[in-house]
Amino acid sequence: MNMMESKKFKRIGVLTSGGDAPGMNAAIRAVVRYGLSKGLKMVGIRRGYSGLINKEFVDLHESSVSHIIDKGGTMLYSARCPEFKEDAGVEKAKQNCIEYGIDGLIVIGGDGSYRGARDLSLKGLPCVGIPGTIDNDISSTDYTIGYDTAMNTVVDMVDKLRDTMESHERCSVVEVMGRHAGHIALNTGIACGASAIITLEEDFDFERDVVARIEKSRTLPHPKTHFIIMVSEGYGRSNELAKMIEERTGVESRAAILGHVQRGGAPTLRDRVLATRLGCHAIELLSQGIGNRVVGIRKDEIVDYDILEGLNMKKEFDHELYELSKIISL
Ligand code: ADP
Ligand code: F6P
Repeated sequence: MNMMESKKFKRIGVLTSGGDAPGMNAAIRAVVRYGLSKGLKMVGIRRGYSGLINKEFVDLHESSVSHIIDKGGTMLYSARCPEFKEDAGVEKAKQNCIEYGIDGLIVIGGDGSYRGARDLSLKGLPCVGIPGTIDNDISSTDYTIGYDTAMNTVVDMVDKLRDTMESHERCSVVEVMGRHAGHIALNTGIACGASAIITLEEDFDFERDVVARIEKSRTLPHPKTHFIIMVSEGYGRSNELAKMIEERTGVESRAAILGHVQRGGAPTLRDRVLATRLGCHAIELLSQGIGNRVVGIRKDEIVDYDILEGLNMKKEFDHELYELSKIISL
């Protein structure tokens, strides 16, 4: 543990960075309210690392975070900041924090944002990372804030799609988010009863994994007449796949790229509670003089790791679940 024994934190900054995720507001709320309860002064930084560089600081009080727990997006705005990838940007951000009296920082974001937090920590500003991304691609936690909400949004949309696919006896190729990870595709594919799930993590053969599966289910005693194929954004090519399925099987096919709608909406209960637990734990660490950590959840226990250790962990893909999906789905 990185204990800064002599260090007594007084003013803590909080920012959201990278792709937003439902539940980020719930995390901000927990961080601010729990921090204030510990006698800390709380500062919001707008627009992620850009706000650190451009001094977009706003003092936060209990009521500054009222009525946000149920809101998607982030009240602090999020941004991508290429300048922060350069040493000069990180140095400027650190100097601005010193000037404003910010002696500890909470970063809510994904893997890229964690790398920024690592760089600031190495420069001497203690940071704690909270996992906020719909992709669930952070290795130091089982679940990220926003993942559950995004998947429920997908399930809701695919249930609607299925109605029209069924009426027209069509195949829907649904592309879900996850540029570098197929966790959303795998789990929503199972929840929506997809005939096939296509992700970068699993070996894929069009004839074996799509055509043969559709053909087989058309020869059952009660033949299947409509199909859902779940594709992760990382694999992509959903329009091409729809065309290939139509040509090869004769089933009329359409691609539906669900897009950014998956990043919005009211967070689910699960994301709100997760965000609250993680937010409080991040403050607990800083209030004890512990920085340079990332927080997460493992088997429903809140945990924390050194930020470098966390960044070096490898996220496992649930291959067993993928294999089960091939047995259960038609
Ligand atoms: P996410 O946090 O969702 O993965 P990004 O990868 O876009 O989102 O990262 C968000 C921001 O974090 C970037 O705009 C940049 O300011 C900072 N960042 C990303 N990668 C690095 C890196 N390798 N080193 C330092 N800062 C980084
Ligand atoms: O939030 C993560 C993510 O949704 C990825 O799955 C996706 O590739 C990316 O964000 C797209 O974000 P943007 O359009 O903001 O660059």
